[in-house]
Amino acid sequence: MPPQPLSPVPDFIYGTAWKEDRTPALTELALRMGFRGIDTANQRRHYFEAGVGQGLAAAYRAGLVTRDDFFLQTKFTYQPGQDHRLPYDPTASLSVQVAQSMASSLDHLATDHVDSYVLHGPSSNHDWTDADAEVWEAMRKERDAGRTRLLGVSNVSLRHLQQMAAARAELPAFVQNRCYARLGWDRAVRSFCREHKIIYQGFSLLTANQEVLHHPLIASLTIASLAASTNATPAQVVFSFARSIGILPLTGTSNAEHMKQDLASRQLTLPPEAVQAIESVAG
Ligand SMILES: NC(=O)c1ccc[n+]([C@@H]2O[C@H](COP(=O)([O-])OP(=O)(O)OC[C@H]3O[C@@H](n4cnc5c(N)ncnc54)[C@H](OP(=O)(O)O)[C@@H]3O)[C@@H](O)[C@H]2O)c1
Repeated sequence: MPPQPLSPVPDFIYGTAWKEDRTPALTELALRMGFRGIDTANQRRHYFEAGVGQGLAAAYRAGLVTRDDFFLQTKFTYQPGQDHRLPYDPTASLSVQVAQSMASSLDHLATDHVDSYVLHGPSSNHDWTDADAEVWEAMRKERDAGRTRLLGVSNVSLRHLQQMAAARAELPAFVQNRCYARLGWDRAVRSFCREHKIIYQGFSLLTANQEVLHHPLIASLTIASLAASTNATPAQVVFSFARSIGILPLTGTSNAEHMKQDLASRQLTLPPEAVQAIESVAG
């Protein structure tokens, strides 16, 4: 196996869910605007992974990026999370389903490897099951064969992660979770991640936390706080805060101006007291 070039883990990830026919154009636009992380899934119900591949192809043609310049992440999704458009034979074993789903992803994305391969969600909301252990082992094999550099799990609880650790399973490089402010921005899972050097990817930072976006504390921080003394938006404050507490944020915006604003949040530095206050603003 020749050594693979390393696409570094980015500081922002562009999410491609729910874009349907706009997926190719929005994927290309995100790369044009400066995103260097793209998240998708081989789950046609919510993602159009082949459309992401079309967007990447357009970006290569336009000379925006080469494959080595950005981080590409996709996911394996169990059948209950899918509709009828399955990327594998549902009668095959879970190990075979993982291999088939990965082969289909690489085909959709026209690449020989992704940078991160994520288990979209465990098979049970409560426990890390034998099915998850089988899928995780199959994902490890995909990694060892060079088809992904890193592995992740999504939609996990602290209990899932503790059970993985107790079973002496290899821990993921990434956790990707919906991040609720009312749960201290997923404090318990983030703390496990910090302890085990797992990168925490947070999604729905804006959509799950509307009450925080309208909180007076956030409003007070938007004033003259961005580089060059322009005012920040509440969304920028939230993304900047997220980064300050070690979250690698995702955004799924479909709007070019918001893409620009979301990326510009990297230039916003909040005072430590503000970060502390936002961390416990709702939970
Ligand atoms: N693992 C999982 O199960 C899972 C689940 C959900 C999502 N995800 C991933 O996470 C990605 C992002 O999902 P998400 O839930 O965070 O986002 P999202 O649902 O795609 O929506 C982001 C929302 O925030 C708005 N927004 C973004 N930037 C803004 C700004 N600067 N100012 C004002 N509004 C702004 C967007 O509106 P505009 O479009 O108008 O900007 C949109 O309404 C998905 O695409 C997917 O890749 C993963």
